[in-house]
Amino acid sequence: MSGQTTTETLALQARGLVKRYGSVTAINGADFDLRRGEVLAVIGDNGAGKSSLIKALAGAIIPDQGEIRMGGEAVTFRSTGDARAHGIETVYQDLAVIPALDIASNLFLGREVRRKGIMGTLFRRLDAPAMRAEAKSHLDDLKIGITSVTQAVEDLSGGQRQGVAVSRAAAFGKGVIIMDEPTAALGVRESGQVIELIKTIRDRGIPVVLISHDMPHVFEVADRIHIHRLGRRAGVVDPKARSMSEVVALMTGAERPTDLEAAGGA
Ligand SMILES: Nc1ncnc2c1ncn2[C@@H]1O[C@H](COP(=O)(O)OP(=O)(O)OP(=O)(O)O)[C@@H](O)[C@H]1O
Ligand SMILES: [Mg+2]
Repeated sequence: MSGQTTTETLALQARGLVKRYGSVTAINGADFDLRRGEVLAVIGDNGAGKSSLIKALAGAIIPDQGEIRMGGEAVTFRSTGDARAHGIETVYQDLAVIPALDIASNLFLGREVRRKGIMGTLFRRLDAPAMRAEAKSHLDDLKIGITSVTQAVEDLSGGQRQGVAVSRAAAFGKGVIIMDEPTAALGVRESGQVIELIKTIRDRGIPVVLISHDMPHVFEVADRIHIHRLGRRAGVVDPKARSMSEVVALMTGAERPTDLEAAGGA
C-alpha cells in the first residue's frame, strides 16, 4: 500500500502496539487498519486482546509502545476525551449506560448541553428541553423505536438499552465508531436491530469497528475481518473469499493465513 493511498483511504491505523500488565502481554505488537466507509469486524478467542486493542484506539489505555495514526498523522490519546476529540466514539463491552437516568440524560452523559448563565459560562444550568429534543431526533434518525426520551433506561429492554448506547456513539462519533460485543447479551431480534443500526451508520459514511464472536453477524455485516490472535493481528480476510469455518480455523490457529492476509489483506 503506498503512503498516499494510506492517507486517503484509512480512517484509523495502528502499528506495533504493545501493552503489558505485569507478566501478561495483552497487546503484543498489534497492527490495525480501518478504512473509510467500512465495517471492520475484529474477531478472536477469549483473551486474544481484542478489547485491549480497541481500548488503546479509544484512549482508554495508553500503550507502552507503538503508534496510532489518523489521516496519516501520528496521534497520542492520553484519555478517552482525546480520542473523542478526534471523532472516535466507543461502545464498551461492559455497557456504560446508567439505568436510573432517563434516555436523554444517558445520551448526553459527560457532555450535557448547558444554558448560558447570568455570569457567562459560570453557573450554567442544564438545558433539559434542548437535550430531550436533540436526543429524540438522534433516536428517530436511527429508527430506534423509543417513544419517550424521558423514560428511565432501567425500564428498557436489553436491545433498546443497547440502542441508546449505540445511538450515543452514532450521535457524537463523527469519525469512527467502535463497538465491543454489542450483541453479546441480546436476543435474536434485538441483535438484528443492532446489526441494522451498524449498516445505517456505515451508509452515512462513518466506519465501524465491530468486535464480535457471532460469525453469522460478522459475515452479514463486515466488509473485512481482522483476525486477532495471541495479542496481535494474525491477518485480515475478505468474508467473500473465506468461509465461516475457514475463518474460525484461522482464529484458533488451526489454519494459517495467506501471505497477503497476514500482511493486512488486499
Ligand atoms: N487491566 C488488566 N490487568 C491485567 N490483565 C489484563 C487487563 N486487561 C486485560 N488483561 C489481560 O490481557 C489479555 C487480553 O484481554 P482482553 O480483554 O483484551 O481480551 P479479549 O480478546 O477482549 O477477550 P474476550 O473475548 O474474553 O472479551 C487477557 O489475558 C486479560 O486477562
Ligand atoms: Mg473483550
